[in-house]
Amino acid sequence: MSIDKQLPSTRTTELDSITLKAEVIPVLVIQRVEDAVPLATALVEGGLTVLEVTLRTDCALEAVRRIKAALPQASIGVGTVLTPAQYRQAEQAGADFVVTPGTTEALYRYGVTSPVPMLPGVATVSELMTGWQYGYRRFKFFPAEASGGVKALKAFAGPIPEARFCPTGGINLDNAEDYLALKNVMSVGGSWLTPNSLVEAEDWHGIRQLAREAAQHFHH
Ligand code: 3PG
Repeated sequence: MSIDKQLPSTRTTELDSITLKAEVIPVLVIQRVEDAVPLATALVEGGLTVLEVTLRTDCALEAVRRIKAALPQASIGVGTVLTPAQYRQAEQAGADFVVTPGTTEALYRYGVTSPVPMLPGVATVSELMTGWQYGYRRFKFFPAEASGGVKALKAFAGPIPEARFCPTGGINLDNAEDYLALKNVMSVGGSWLTPNSLVEAEDWHGIRQLAREAAQHFHH
């Protein structure tokens, strides 16, 4: 089957205006809501202005509200969105974009109508083809390392060269460069910039340093 390349795309320009600012998107799993603003501030001051806050903890939505209020210049994605109901909660909390680890038809459908653009998670060409039919052109590739990594993304470029990806899952300072070198990769994401040890110790200076190194290293 060949995919219909003429289908209208869904908010590709909006997503590009966010992700083009960011080679690296830190993934935040916030355990204590008090950490949200100092953690996000350290990352933004270090030069990483696009962040993903995952809905994996109870305080995640409150964390997003606080970060949005404190750092209006940052772009905040809400990640680990599994259902349209969570998507709506992310909209209400002020998300600039929504990230999903995988996709369902319900999410693809909801995302087309939402004012907040979605970066749907895919790991296979079939998921990509389904997303394409709904108009999606930008995807999260998750879990990147476990799903074939750089080789898989190179292979995706064969049938669907126009799709662009933000790989996450197993990415770190050592392999990020290999992903960013691919034409179909717009940015990479991961939790390596927010190590638990530093967050628990409230070592915001240490986080800022990590962010600065990443921002300088990967700036193209
Ligand atoms: C995600 O949700 O994107 C991942 O949990 C990030 O993966 P990592 O922890 O391997 O960086």
